[in-house]
Amino acid sequence: MKISIIGAGYVGLVSAICFAKMDNEVTLIDIDKDKIHTIGKGISPIHEEGLDELLGQVPLKVSTDYLDTMSSEVIFICVGTPSDDRGIILEPIKKALERLAGILKTRQDYCVVVVKSTVAPGTTDETVIPILEKSGKKAGKDFGVCMSPEFLSEGKAINDFMYPMRVIIGEYDKRSGAVVNRLFQNFNAPTMRTSLKTAEMIKLASNAFLATKISFINEVGNICKRLGVDTHEVAKGMGFDDRIGPKFLNAGLGFGGSCLPKDLRMIITKAKALGYLPDILEGVLKVNDGQAMQLLNLLKKHIRPKDAVIGLLGLAFKPDTDDVRDSRAIGIVESLLQEGATIRAYDPLAAKNFSLLFPQIEYVSREEVLDSDAILIVTEWEEFRHLDYTGKIVIDGRGIIKAREARIYEGIYW
Ligand code: UDX
Repeated sequence: MKISIIGAGYVGLVSAICFAKMDNEVTLIDIDKDKIHTIGKGISPIHEEGLDELLGQVPLKVSTDYLDTMSSEVIFICVGTPSDDRGIILEPIKKALERLAGILKTRQDYCVVVVKSTVAPGTTDETVIPILEKSGKKAGKDFGVCMSPEFLSEGKAINDFMYPMRVIIGEYDKRSGAVVNRLFQNFNAPTMRTSLKTAEMIKLASNAFLATKISFINEVGNICKRLGVDTHEVAKGMGFDDRIGPKFLNAGLGFGGSCLPKDLRMIITKAKALGYLPDILEGVLKVNDGQAMQLLNLLKKHIRPKDAVIGLLGLAFKPDTDDVRDSRAIGIVESLLQEGATIRAYDPLAAKNFSLLFPQIEYVSREEVLDSDAILIVTEWEEFRHLDYTGKIVIDGRGIIKAREARIYEGIYW
């Protein structure tokens, strides 16, 4: 099929490359000229396993001009939805839709616009469709509308795209859904067709549930720590029950990244706007927000951060990515700087991105981090499982077994 993808961020780029690999004719559009130029040269602006190779292999048209959506049967909206203290910022997506409406105005044929960006329930009905209808064209008659959320996990996004656990198609009407269903028919995954608002809620509820699992096991960890019990063993024992399952029960510093914290805040804000106080979800966020302090309190049992050299192993929000958005390392560094510590840090991929946030700390090799007065393990990179920690003071936020050989070792929940 002929597809356009608007927004060459994480989701847009991965989706474009994967749809192109599946023999669709794909045009990737972004107003950021530099980004489009880089992708056009076959270079991925983000780190994602397998992306560079695929970018060199698949035919992908890139453009900064919305006119290039003109002959597409399906147009995906993959524009980012950043957030600030007041909540989600819809301006970028609204601007993209305004531009698209300008194109729809002149189109004579039917196409389907699919929202892939994560938005609060009701946004496609209440915001997306009215903007598109400014074209003078009517949803359901002149063009179709769907909402199909993404469930891509960073570091394995290509695999997640190619082998999805489910495909969710929220549809304005049957005709819109049928077109998008055709696009996904070769994926070997359960497909669910539903309303636009339900699809939006499925995405938010899924991420809120994953976040809840993590904060749940971390709360259990707070109890285990006081009991002198290893939370990882408790989680292992729980995970044999297939109603519970072993995944997302890895206790530690908590969740970060571009999705879980933001999506959780989005669902909480929406619930409150509807007059409902979501106690569980508020608790999930509260437990997560306290994680950095838990680790620092353990550190302070063994060393005074003031005037000490504290080494951080890991800065990315999780292993195998260079992404530092909402990384737990941010709160830890902020607190340590306030306490007057000298900080050195090492991360195999994310040091450059982190240095844009904190230019004042030192970015060094693993060995130099190991030479610090005390070491904090912040991200569970595989390579940290094989370091020599003998003789060190290590406070572990991520369950690195080998670090238990340290002279002084303490884990956040074990
Ligand atoms: C997530 C969802 O998994 C994905 O389906 C969605 O579409 C986007 O958001 P991602 O943000 O890439 O993906 O990361 P994920 O693997 O879910 O991890 C999120 C955070 O939770 C990381 O900081 C990770 O370290 C933490 N985590 C994860 C735990 O602390 N414990 C766990 O058991 C699992």
